Amino acid sequence: MSATSWWRDAVIYQVYPRSWSDADGDGFGDLRGITARLEHLARLGVDALWLSPFYTSPQRDAGYDVSDYRDVDPLFGTLADFDALVARAHELGLRVVVDVVPNHTSDEHPWFTAAVAAPPGSPERDRFVFREGRGEHGEEPPNNWESFFGGSAWTRVSDRPDSWEAQDGDVPALAGPEADGAPAGVPGPGRRREQWYLHLFDVSQPDLDWTRSEVRAEFEDVLRFWLDRGVDGFRVDVAHGLVKAEGLPDADLSLDVQRDVTNLLPMWDQDGVHEIYRSWRRLVDERDHEPMLCGEAWVVPAEALARYVRPDELHQTFNFAFLLTPWDVEALRGAITESLESAEAVGAPQTWVLSNHDVVRHATRLGRDDAATIVVTDGIGPDDPQPDAELGLRRARAATALMLALPGSAYLYQGEELGLPDATTLPDEVLQDPTWERSGHTRRGRDGCRVPVPWSPSGPSLGFGPSDPWLPQPEAYAALAPSEQDGVEGSTLELYRHLLRERRERRLGRGRLTWIDAPAHGVLAFKVDDVTVLATVGGVSVPIPFDHRVVAASGPLDGAADDTVLPPDTTVWLTTPVASADGGVLG
Ligand code: NOJ
Repeated sequence: MSATSWWRDAVIYQVYPRSWSDADGDGFGDLRGITARLEHLARLGVDALWLSPFYTSPQRDAGYDVSDYRDVDPLFGTLADFDALVARAHELGLRVVVDVVPNHTSDEHPWFTAAVAAPPGSPERDRFVFREGRGEHGEEPPNNWESFFGGSAWTRVSDRPDSWEAQDGDVPALAGPEADGAPAGVPGPGRRREQWYLHLFDVSQPDLDWTRSEVRAEFEDVLRFWLDRGVDGFRVDVAHGLVKAEGLPDADLSLDVQRDVTNLLPMWDQDGVHEIYRSWRRLVDERDHEPMLCGEAWVVPAEALARYVRPDELHQTFNFAFLLTPWDVEALRGAITESLESAEAVGAPQTWVLSNHDVVRHATRLGRDDAATIVVTDGIGPDDPQPDAELGLRRARAATALMLALPGSAYLYQGEELGLPDATTLPDEVLQDPTWERSGHTRRGRDGCRVPVPWSPSGPSLGFGPSDPWLPQPEAYAALAPSEQDGVEGSTLELYRHLLRERRERRLGRGRLTWIDAPAHGVLAFKVDDVTVLATVGGVSVPIPFDHRVVAASGPLDGAADDTVLPPDTTVWLTTPVASADGGVLG
């Protein structure tokens, strides 16, 4: 593997460990399961895999609640399993990127249990964001911030969920204003001065205080720990959330986090985050194999997001603006142009992504005519309008073919190479995403895109493992297993393999995009170096110029060989014949 800025055009495949492959038969995927199936990725033709968290965790947010950053949760295996995974991946020429979750720990992290046991103002509490409440007796949260999953972003120490037991050494229960500022008679085990703690996500995910040097030192050490084990990069969870506005002022809750300028909200995109990434960049740059940092930063506008990828900060951020762009020519053209320009302004490559473990998969989103109205992190349930599976897959394949032609780096989410849709009819009782509970059962959350991957058409979990999977798989998954698509011309799996091969051979990821005149309204048309890309986004069909050769097509084309028509919702990559030195025509 050469290390010449490999990340600039890398295709990185996200493995969600609990749902990829279950070797030990407990219904959850694990590291040994992943290692056993790495050849699937090598054959697919990606450059790297990114593993969502597999660290020790109570799993209240599927592993994004970490209680030990330097170990593997028994659910997923052991450190030895991790080492074996990295070794095998490297043997196959695949790099390994792991998640780092710095915004919050688990409430079972030793730092947090110590913080709760310690008095207000103690160094233990200072690692987190503990504050006195508002109101005469501190009975109101310190400000109006809301948890991303629903409800207040603050929990009072004594109001923690029932799993919480009073700590040894707690102040004995007292009631009365003198004891803890609360009105007499307000119940609470082990009452002390009742502070509140901040959790932008679940109550089990207390936010760290990144103004503390101890917090910074700890995470630098965590990064070194995994670099020493051979990882090739980190995906930084909630990269835009680590630093909060001074004084924690109330937020304007009418702002839309996905559309309004992000840093108008005091918990997101504050200037202080950049210094953290500068120090992380220095840290990874000490290693010879060019470890890469990719930030999960839901930040608008594009110029603000680009600040994270200035030359001395992160290497990449996810391009969620592209993911959220509707299937519409003008919108796509605008999003691609803005993405490329903003990244280029700081000398960074752009990234592209259509699906991940937090959003409704693109094969499902694009199968609904009202796709633009779907709140991508809320999921689709049995009572919602159901997507048109065929339309969704056709558009998803076209969208992927469009994406993989674009210059920069691309992220794929496990199962999209099979054309997997979301599970949109999961019954309420199987839902596990904390969003479902915290929103009072109004938002289903992200389980629909996290259902275990099928590997064969039969068996208790369609080859995922020997027992029932942790979430039930939709019936449609059986026919989409790789065993059913391998070698089948026109299958989604073969399409992905073909696109990735052509992309690599033609070095499209390092190419330059130029817009060209579209042959008709409703067609997105551009060139990347000498490859012409046409995508019929607006429900139209167009003839393919007769002197062009089709390099790749996201779906069947209509018409005869020299009179081919590009049908609706299809993308083609075309080349023109090249004149040879003797005047003949090549290729
Ligand atoms: C973003 C992760 O992708 C998501 O799954 C998680 O719930 C939140 N960050 C909190 O860690």
